[in-house]
Amino acid sequence: MTIDLAGRVALVTGGSRGIGQAIAAALSGAGAKVAVLGRDAARAEAAAQALGAGSLAVTADVADAAQVTAALERVEQGLGPVDILVNNAGLTKDGLLARMSGDDWDAVLDANLKGAFLLTKAVTRGMMKRRWGRVINITSVVGVRGNPGQANYAASKAGLIGFTKSVARELASRNVLVNAIAPGFIDTDMTRALSEAQREALIGQIPLGRLGRGADVAGAVLFLASDLADYITGHVLVVDGGMVM
Ligand SMILES: NC(=O)c1ccc[n+]([C@@H]2O[C@H](COP(=O)([O-])OP(=O)(O)OC[C@H]3O[C@@H](n4cnc5c(N)ncnc54)[C@H](OP(=O)(O)O)[C@@H]3O)[C@@H](O)[C@H]2O)c1
Repeated sequence: MTIDLAGRVALVTGGSRGIGQAIAAALSGAGAKVAVLGRDAARAEAAAQALGAGSLAVTADVADAAQVTAALERVEQGLGPVDILVNNAGLTKDGLLARMSGDDWDAVLDANLKGAFLLTKAVTRGMMKRRWGRVINITSVVGVRGNPGQANYAASKAGLIGFTKSVARELASRNVLVNAIAPGFIDTDMTRALSEAQREALIGQIPLGRLGRGADVAGAVLFLASDLADYITGHVLVVDGGMVM
């Protein structure tokens, strides 16, 4: 059995760097046409160019409904209707609850959770009509077990798990499969702020003895996007080197 996504159109939010960039490369490598969405136009353009022919860059803030609508129109015009949506865009604004501002709460919930809602709602209409679709939401182990200093981020990622399971139930009869992936600690811009001591302490909690790579998460996305996962929906696949088992 091989993974062949030729003829499929994928949209990866936050595909301009980090985990999303690795996901976009994996989907493109399997033959899909891939749209990369980010806020920074130059970065998204560079990421799409690196993928080569059949890829497209679009710029939008996923929390902004009008920008999402405009970006999806550009993807449809450029590549065709979206078959595979990867809700990967996300951000952190860490702080202990006692000091967390309402703005930092809203910014994280808007990007990480409302963004997935806006994009999923928009693309699943066509998927349902075509009786084929895959939505893959990138949550986090932090949404499963919590983390001090990340109440906003953990709430957004736990919310994404509830969203995944509810929408999976709503759309299963139309063969639109909705799953989540919960990465552990992956080496990207998001985690590079950790000190060397924090990094070593973390690695000590990971049975596989290293931080994850974007490609580790991308492999799981590729599987869930493929025909190999035809009978899987509403699942949360943990990709964390064994950390939370
Ligand atoms: N790294 C980890 O250890 C880890 C662990 C578990 C889960 N995750 C999740 O995995 C996903 C990717 O994380 P990462 O580590 O690759 O992060 P990253 O390196 O910080 O990259 C974040 C990506 O999301 C985009 N983005 C952020 N906010 C956006 C918004 N409002 N609208 C559109 N695009 C937005 C960024 O675009 P710009 O470049 O334009 O800013 C960038 O492409 C996130 O959802 C994160 O929560 C990460």
